[in-house]
This record gives sequence, structure tokens and C-alpha cells, in this order.
Amino acid sequence: MFESKAGILWVGGIGFFVIAFLSNGWVPMLMYQDLKEQTAEEVVNSRVLYQFEEISRRYPQTFKQYYGDVNEDTCAEALRLGRQLYIGEGCWHCHSQFVRPVSNESLRWGEVAATIEFQNELQRPVMFGTRRVGPDLSREGGRRSNDWHAVHFFQPKMLSPGSPMPAYPWFFDGGPDQPNKRGIAIMTYVQWLGSWLESYPYYEELKDSDSES
Ligand code: HEC
Repeated sequence: MFESKAGILWVGGIGFFVIAFLSNGWVPMLMYQDLKEQTAEEVVNSRVLYQFEEISRRYPQTFKQYYGDVNEDTCAEALRLGRQLYIGEGCWHCHSQFVRPVSNESLRWGEVAATIEFQNELQRPVMFGTRRVGPDLSREGGRRSNDWHAVHFFQPKMLSPGSPMPAYPWFFDGGPDQPNKRGIAIMTYVQWLGSWLESYPYYEELKDSDSES
């Protein structure tokens, strides 16, 4: 039976598909079914709050107008909106959020992605992405300053000559020094990416300055 054409098609086409589904889908689902999914509020951490606060100091006028105070709830609100914008603006057409365990990707982007990172509201649906016109963003947080992001979203070519990334003027009320509700949200979201890792770049400086004062 296995040497007939139909047999090969069954084993190759259906059999291996079923095995892959069981090992990559069903087994992990069973393993992690008891892990509670965290809410946006629960994934707000000191690193992203630090960035959110930094944004509030840098753009006090629009921050006050759209978010009021810096706290876990307003930060979670910004993260939710940021994620929606990431989906709605199609950022995922050009950016992945998954460091693969191949091709030495970790040398360029940091730790290989782990299952536990995706167990929260902001990862539904996950933004793995399908192609990389731009760099992977899953460890983007802390890599750049907020004013860098503001100018880059306003006009990528100003910082990265020849960049194919579109400009997002509707993230701003005026120039790049006036990010609006959406601009603040997307910056907070981008600074959140990877903030759950010890390797978050700015955090070391933050810890140093905490202990000095
Ligand atoms: C047409 C493809 C495309 C789209 C759509 C796109 N980007 Fe990009 N992005 C790029 C490319 C290419 C780069 C690298 C060149 C540069 O810095 O502009 C980049 C760079 C970036 C960087 C800087 C990464 C670093 O540290 O060097 C960030 C952050 C970023 N994009 C976020 C976003 C977000 C958020 C969106 C959606 C609002 C978005 N991008 C939409 C192509 C794209």
C-alpha cells in the first residue's frame, strides 16, 4: 500500500501534516493550557513606565491633553492603542516580531523568542509577521530614544536616508515635537517590545541613576 502513489500521497501529504499539527499545535496547547493570559495592565513594567514618563516630560502639552497622568492604567491604554495602530497601519507587512533560532539572528536582535513572551492580551493575535522589509522589532524597546522615534515616524527619511518606510504625519498634531494620542501610543508600544527581558538596554542606566539618587 505504501509504495503505491496513493499511499505516498497519504503519508506525505496528510500523515506528516497531522504529525506536524500534533507536535507543533496540539502538544504545546496542552502544555500551556493552565498558563493564565495576562492583561495589558499586568504587562506594564518599570521599563515601559520609565519610557512613558520620559514621553510625558518630553511632550508635556500633548501628553497631558491625551493621557493626563503617568500611571499603569494610562500606560496600558497607550499600549492597547499602540498595538491596534501596529495592526491597522500594517507595520507587520514590513516588520517581524520573532527572533528565530536560525541564521545567528540572536547576534543581531538579541534573545531568541520564547513561548512565554506571547502569553498576554497584547499578543492576540501575535504579530510574528511574514516578511522583513525592515528589521525585526521584538527587541526594539530601549534601542532608540523617544525623540528618535518621533522624528522617524514623522519622516523616516530624515534619519534613515532612502528608507522605504512610509511617513505617518497623522501621528502628530503639528511637527515631530507634537505627537498626538496615536503618536504617543505607537512610541510607547515600540518601547514596550522586549521590555520583559533583562537585556532591555536603557534599564541598566535607569538602575544606576536610581541607586545614585
Ligand atoms: C514599507 C515597509 C515598512 C512599513 C509599512 C513600516 N516600516 Fe518600519 N521600517 C522599515 C524599514 C525598511 C526600516 C529600516 C530603515 C529605517 O530606519 O527607516 C524600518 C525601521 C523601523 C524602526 C527602526 C528600527 C531600528 O531600531 O533601526 C522602527 C521602530 C519601525 N520601523 C517601526 C515601524 C512601525 C511601528 C510601523 C507602522 C506604524 C512601521 N515601522 C511600518 C519598513 C517599514
